[in-house]
Amino acid sequence: MKKLTINTSARLSKVNSNIFGHFSEHLGRCIYEGIYVGEDSPIPNTKGIRNDVCSALKELEVPVLRWPGGCFADEYHWMDGIGPKENRKKMINTHWGGVTEDNSFGTHEFFELCAQIGCEPYLAGNLGSGTVQEMSQWIEYITSGGISPMTELRRKNGRNEPWKLKYLGIGNESWGCGGNMRPQYYADLYRQYQTYCRNYNGNELYKVACGPNADDYGWTEEIMKALKPCHTRAISLHYYTIPSGDWSHKGDAVEFTEEEYYKTVKNALYIDKIISRHLEIMSVYDPAHEIGLIVDEWGNWFDVEKGTNPGFLYQQNTMRDAVTSALNLDIFIKHSDRVVMANIAQAVNVLQSVILTEGDKMVKTPTYHIFDMYRCHKEGERVFTCADSEEREGIPALSHCATVKDGVLSVSLTNPLLKETQELEIDVCGFDFTSVEGKIVSDSDIHAHNTFTEKENVTIKKFGDYSAEKGRIKVKLPPCSVVTLSVK
Ligand code: AHR
Repeated sequence: MKKLTINTSARLSKVNSNIFGHFSEHLGRCIYEGIYVGEDSPIPNTKGIRNDVCSALKELEVPVLRWPGGCFADEYHWMDGIGPKENRKKMINTHWGGVTEDNSFGTHEFFELCAQIGCEPYLAGNLGSGTVQEMSQWIEYITSGGISPMTELRRKNGRNEPWKLKYLGIGNESWGCGGNMRPQYYADLYRQYQTYCRNYNGNELYKVACGPNADDYGWTEEIMKALKPCHTRAISLHYYTIPSGDWSHKGDAVEFTEEEYYKTVKNALYIDKIISRHLEIMSVYDPAHEIGLIVDEWGNWFDVEKGTNPGFLYQQNTMRDAVTSALNLDIFIKHSDRVVMANIAQAVNVLQSVILTEGDKMVKTPTYHIFDMYRCHKEGERVFTCADSEEREGIPALSHCATVKDGVLSVSLTNPLLKETQELEIDVCGFDFTSVEGKIVSDSDIHAHNTFTEKENVTIKKFGDYSAEKGRIKVKLPPCSVVTLSVK
């Protein structure tokens, strides 16, 4: 039997709710169809926003939503997306399928969406093809209560009071689709742009600079040399898990071999090393740790579903996604002293989504259920956990994390092995408890997924395969499972 020790006296860091954040881009059917259908749609909506999708995101207690991209952000001109819809300029979404973007979902609609969900907005500003003035005016339009051409314009467009905006990314993937810049050049532009993004009426912006792609440590080094906490509160990191590691043949979302599964898990776990190394570099230039790390794009990226638009990045979501999302969340929780936000890509119908839609139908994916189960860790204090380290199939045989909040100890355990049940003895130190309750997301078939007709193939179930006595809990983790125990 394997051992896991939990010491609740060792409180290590507070888990920022924003680690469970999401991302919605003008890409494929994420915004249009997935979230926004327009007020005249037969699909039930409130101010054009789908009621079913919005309620599901609300239930998930989505803390923060990033928008409008992604690569799209650096071609987005916000003024085209305000005012009467019939007058809004149309544009070509050059990154994603070359489709017409009619700008019917713009700033007002996004803030309405965040209000309906009850989440914080996180804007990605256009540094790649925009201007300093354009970004500066966007912030003024959104957050200023004073008298100026921008605030007059906002009022004319039906919004009297300014909105609150905290999170502002300045440029997206500026090393790639956001301008193919070198870090020194980007850092100088960043410093210039951020200067003119003002704090109006007590609204305090939390500015985020474009950080590295995956393991590009050179980018982090240069950015950190050039930026100080007075310029930026955080830098971003993007890392996608590609099963094959090869962008031209990533692998199918549903049909994959055991070998491909283990490769996916291995590649997902690589983010732990990446985060650790970036944080080490950041510490050299920011020893007081005033600048945080935001993983504002992460998740599995497979080949698009056959028969769908290749530019729309639509993929199914299986138990494999459930396992890798739990592994990622465990890693973010482990680094929660410095990882202040993470945004899975993307919320609806794109990449590793929590929700899929087809016409008026909607389904929650296995990844949704992991996010749902992990809600217990939000704002909890991470406590020390240590397990026998054992590798199988080239990966650690167990992933775990534990947090304490409001007198409840929440323990998450993932068995990523496909064939082995794992028996675990958990020693709980420093925490008296009288009850344990368990939940599980699992399936004997790693390919299991939900469809529009079979929505509950993979979902959260009650878990009872444990016994507890005097500070000790014995658990039997079935193969390919994610379990959360609530210990009181
Ligand atoms: O999430 C899809 C794309 O991946 C984003 O637009 C871009 O930032 C990243 O390369």
